[in-house]
Amino acid sequence: MLEEPVDAAFAGSYPSRVQPVRLGSYGRIDGTEPLGRLGNLTLMATIWPTTPDKGEQGILSRFDPETNAGFALAIGSDGGATAILGHGSGAPIRLSVGKALKARTWYRIWASFDRAKDRLVVGQTPISPSPFTDLAGTASLTLEGEVLSDGGCCLLIAASGGEPVSGHFNGKIEAPAIFDRALEPAEIEAAAGGEPPQGLVAGWDFSREISGTRIVDIGPAGVHGELVNLPARAMTGSTWTGREMCWRHAPEDYAAIHFHDDDIYDCGWETDFSFTVPHGFRSGVYAARLRCGEHEDRVPFFVCPPKGSRQADLCVVIPTFTYVIYGNHARPDFGEHWRRRAAAWNAYPWNPADHPEYGLSTYNFHSDGSGICHASRLRPILTLRPGFVSIAEQRGSGLRHFQADTHLLAWLEAKGFDFDVLTDEELHHEGVEAIAPYRTVTTTSHPEYHTAETLDALQQYRDGGGRLMYLGGNGFYWRVALHAEAPGVIEIRRGEGGIRAWAAEPGEYFNAFDGAYGGLWRRSGRPPQELAGVGFSAQGLFEGSYYRRSPQASDPRVSWIFEGVDDDILGNFGLSGGGAAGYELDRVDRRLGTPEHTIILASSQGHSDSFVLVPEEHLTHVTTWPGAPHQDLIRADMVFFEAPKNGAVFSTGSITFCGSLCHDGYDNNISRILENVLTRFLDPEAVLQTAAQRGPLS
Ligand SMILES: [Fe+2]
Repeated sequence: MLEEPVDAAFAGSYPSRVQPVRLGSYGRIDGTEPLGRLGNLTLMATIWPTTPDKGEQGILSRFDPETNAGFALAIGSDGGATAILGHGSGAPIRLSVGKALKARTWYRIWASFDRAKDRLVVGQTPISPSPFTDLAGTASLTLEGEVLSDGGCCLLIAASGGEPVSGHFNGKIEAPAIFDRALEPAEIEAAAGGEPPQGLVAGWDFSREISGTRIVDIGPAGVHGELVNLPARAMTGSTWTGREMCWRHAPEDYAAIHFHDDDIYDCGWETDFSFTVPHGFRSGVYAARLRCGEHEDRVPFFVCPPKGSRQADLCVVIPTFTYVIYGNHARPDFGEHWRRRAAAWNAYPWNPADHPEYGLSTYNFHSDGSGICHASRLRPILTLRPGFVSIAEQRGSGLRHFQADTHLLAWLEAKGFDFDVLTDEELHHEGVEAIAPYRTVTTTSHPEYHTAETLDALQQYRDGGGRLMYLGGNGFYWRVALHAEAPGVIEIRRGEGGIRAWAAEPGEYFNAFDGAYGGLWRRSGRPPQELAGVGFSAQGLFEGSYYRRSPQASDPRVSWIFEGVDDDILGNFGLSGGGAAGYELDRVDRRLGTPEHTIILASSQGHSDSFVLVPEEHLTHVTTWPGAPHQDLIRADMVFFEAPKNGAVFSTGSITFCGSLCHDGYDNNISRILENVLTRFLDPEAVLQTAAQRGPLS
């Protein structure tokens, strides 16, 4: 690792302390004291449990486990709908239906208390009765002298109570409601989808304000709530049939929220120190080094130039959306070999697979088996640390993302190219203005996740005379959304198609955060080829092969790129998988938007049998979407094309490209090619297109 110490005003000693991470999402409603004094009572909710067997889980709870006061509707330790009634002394009364709920099945569950009759009833009834099993049940109990007690505090949805909050529920909840009388079973039956029965005090309609964090009470009490730790919204509800696939067209069919006991948004840790970037501070990649006893950690941050100014002609866009989306990725191939590698290399020793307590990545599953669709940076991210090794492969360094991207930064420094850094967030919020002043803008190895705003910014930059380098693979692939109220979190729906870590459920392809159709940009009519000339085509193990120079490379439009390079075989070396063309490969496709005048400079060859065509390129077992044989599509294309106003694009089509730059003391054919491209791109006098091309392009 190459590190340079930097003076910082915050350098010094600070007291340290344990700061917890409280995983688990729930709804919290304050100001519900009047509900604690109700005489008669019914609690009701429609639920789709995913782990009914995991132990007690609160559905609708105003219960204080410290004082045993209050009441709750829950899933009991036997997996059945359960009423909990506290009376302030001794253990609360728990009354269960006594029949475990079936996972991933819609039920209405309820608990009612009739004070005059001293009668407690709990019930569960499936929304669609099974032809095979009787899933319904009720239980009742006559109490002697028990009186409802006030659980104080607040009302929780999808958790039991306590401080810290415990008893988190896994699954979907729809239309939780409280009534001031004991409803009859027939009334509860009739409540399905229609008008709520008489006596509604408070009821939360999750089909309202789906993109927000507020939950809206449609009852007379008007006690609205807040969601904690961002459970998934815009989830199909009990009435969803497939007649509408977009929640904006039928919000009533999306009145469910999916809660998870391992959701996390903001750890909410106290601030120990802050850093005001001094005037004149160099833009770049920094880290705050934290030490405590024998422990050490480095927290990276990216310093942009002051807004509206630049310190260099080159801008490196740091793909922070992709870093965060991958944040705390616990890889399925993690094991002892990784620990051995980390120890032998003195690499970052902590791995999310061993430490899920900070919340895992959108490449992982929740504890209930559903895919994680939210990624927050307001928590420690172990994968986003200098020296973290992603993959303990035999060939190469096994670095990806932040760590692999430093291969490029090290090369730029070694070659004396000054650069500024910006992140995806500036690109998203400030648009093309953030990058317009630069002569060249480059990506790093894997700019995979984009919003419409970041793609627009790059495209407008390119079409305004900018010179864009895409030095990676599988870029501009997935469509993500930011939250309007909650900064620092990204949503991804792993919709139809694509190399996916999990698959979104039917009907749940539209983002909750911005209402757009999630999934691949290609499915939204914006394939990567339109911007960069190449797009994702094949993936294999973390191995790199080489490119072979194409006959078109001698075209005078591009021959300058190969100045000083005599080899036909390019990049058969490197830290990333052992070769410049590997792991994730992009190729040209005119039907997907590669500009007509694009020149293929080189294409990769020699990939092992581990490489497969991405799913969206398959039609049948023998045919592909482009019509070419499978094997022909397993390649990276290195391309160049001119853009309007003397702009241009250079793309490498391989995620392992940057890993080859440092080979042989930065003196190799990959390094030379990039140096030729960048030198010319940075030269304002350089004319990058012939008059013949300039005509139709401008
Ligand atoms: Fe990726």
